[in-house]
Amino acid sequence: MMAKSVVWLLGLAPILWAGIRFATDGLGANPIEEALHLAGRWALVLLLTGLSVTPLRRISGWNRIIKVRRLLGLFAFFYACLHLLIYLGLDQGFAWSFIVEDVVERPFITVGAGAFLLLVPLAVTSTKGWIRRLGRRWQRLHRLVYLAATLGALHFYWKVKADTFWPLVAAMVLAGLLLARVPWRRLRRTKG
Ligand code: HEM
Repeated sequence: MMAKSVVWLLGLAPILWAGIRFATDGLGANPIEEALHLAGRWALVLLLTGLSVTPLRRISGWNRIIKVRRLLGLFAFFYACLHLLIYLGLDQGFAWSFIVEDVVERPFITVGAGAFLLLVPLAVTSTKGWIRRLGRRWQRLHRLVYLAATLGALHFYWKVKADTFWPLVAAMVLAGLLLARVPWRRLRRTKG
């Protein structure tokens, strides 16, 4: 399916791009920070792309794109894992006491950790078997993605000190995607 190939390309492009940059300019002056940021940014971008599937489907009537949602979510989780591993291993050198201190004392890290923890059960239950087993509860569980994306956007905003342009863009896109889910018509009907 064409849409799936596009998502595979979109999901793998950042890694390929980072590989090319690593081979050519060594990923700049601070490669660890660059890789950490790249993985974090892509985790968020892919999460937001995944959240845009349902509104897009409603607007366009293109129902088959639902098939790419899981892949987008799993790629988002993949980059979140990479981001976390780079932080734990390359940035902090697996110095657990510093890491615990960081998570407890720096709110933006606490929020990032919250976002990550919420993504774990979503990734685990993304298989066909779990979807079948959980039935209606699966949908309820997967609503956690709204909270995970909100914490991810907050983590991004909190992290930057001066240039808030991209975190604000991410927050606005997220707000739009969440507002698109409010059942406005039903709300109007119950009011009137
Ligand atoms: C335990 C989980 C996490 C930890 C420990 C963590 C840690 C970090 C750290 C240390 C930075 C760089 C801070 C700096 O350079 O000053 C960062 C940046 C970032 N993180 Fe996370 N993070 C976590 C989870 C997440 C998740 C789940 C997402 C996405 C959904 C995410 C998205 C981002 C973004 C977008 C940036 C900024 C990248 C940029 O400046 O371009 N992080 N994170």
